[in-house]
Amino acid sequence: MSELPLPRHVAIIMDGNGRWAKQHKIKVALGHRKGVETLRAIIRESSDLGIEALSLYAFSTENWRRSPEEVSALMGLLLEFFSSEIDELDEKNVCIRILGDKEGMPPAQREALINAEKRTGKNTGLKLNIAINYGGRAELARAARRLAEKAVKGEIRPEDIDEDALSRELYTAGLPDVDLLIRTSGEMRLSNFLLYQCAYAEFDFPTVLWPDFDLNAYHEALRAYQHRDRRFGGRNS
Ligand code: FPP
Repeated sequence: MSELPLPRHVAIIMDGNGRWAKQHKIKVALGHRKGVETLRAIIRESSDLGIEALSLYAFSTENWRRSPEEVSALMGLLLEFFSSEIDELDEKNVCIRILGDKEGMPPAQREALINAEKRTGKNTGLKLNIAINYGGRAELARAARRLAEKAVKGEIRPEDIDEDALSRELYTAGLPDVDLLIRTSGEMRLSNFLLYQCAYAEFDFPTVLWPDFDLNAYHEALRAYQHRDRRFGGRNS
């Protein structure tokens, strides 16, 4: 990795587990299982590289529409992930935050998510955000609702509602905006992920499927980012 600055906040849409399973003629659940191995390696590497925040899209509000078999496999993997990884993540000083509606999760998963946040909440290393039962529009509607409630109670005035006030009501409150968004498998869509936070993000769409996204592919995406010319609407020269 060169000396150029790394992104402070990397967001990843981990796409392609289903196609990977199909290619290997195995069940989709096994594709997701392989996807979890990739996810562990990417979390570890992000922590080792000193990246400030990593946001992973694990389960969207639309994913409930998948077959009961696939949803239950993903729910099982979630539980397994938190019980098998929490010790190492805590030891690595990783601070876990869940982006999304925990209340809409089954009780065992909800408890695991709440425990992970509680246990690692004071850690000062990598900020690991896992989006579960998450939708970007729902997040914005929730933020608007929270601001409206504060206004009705007289805690804020309508003119206090600016971009920072809105940011503070998002699940990502206090985190920097996304600098680099990676979506694997060649799909070029945001799919309702971090709509507000990606306003000035650089996008990278490697064609590799998520289970095959290895550290070389991650480094390549980071290196490409380091050579982007970011202007934020201004001019650099
Ligand atoms: C997209 O692949 C991936 C998902 C919908 C889920 C991603 C989840 C994991 C990697 C594992 C669970 C997460 C944790 C934190 C344990 P796809 O199935 O949409 O792939 P396809 O487009 O090829 O069908």
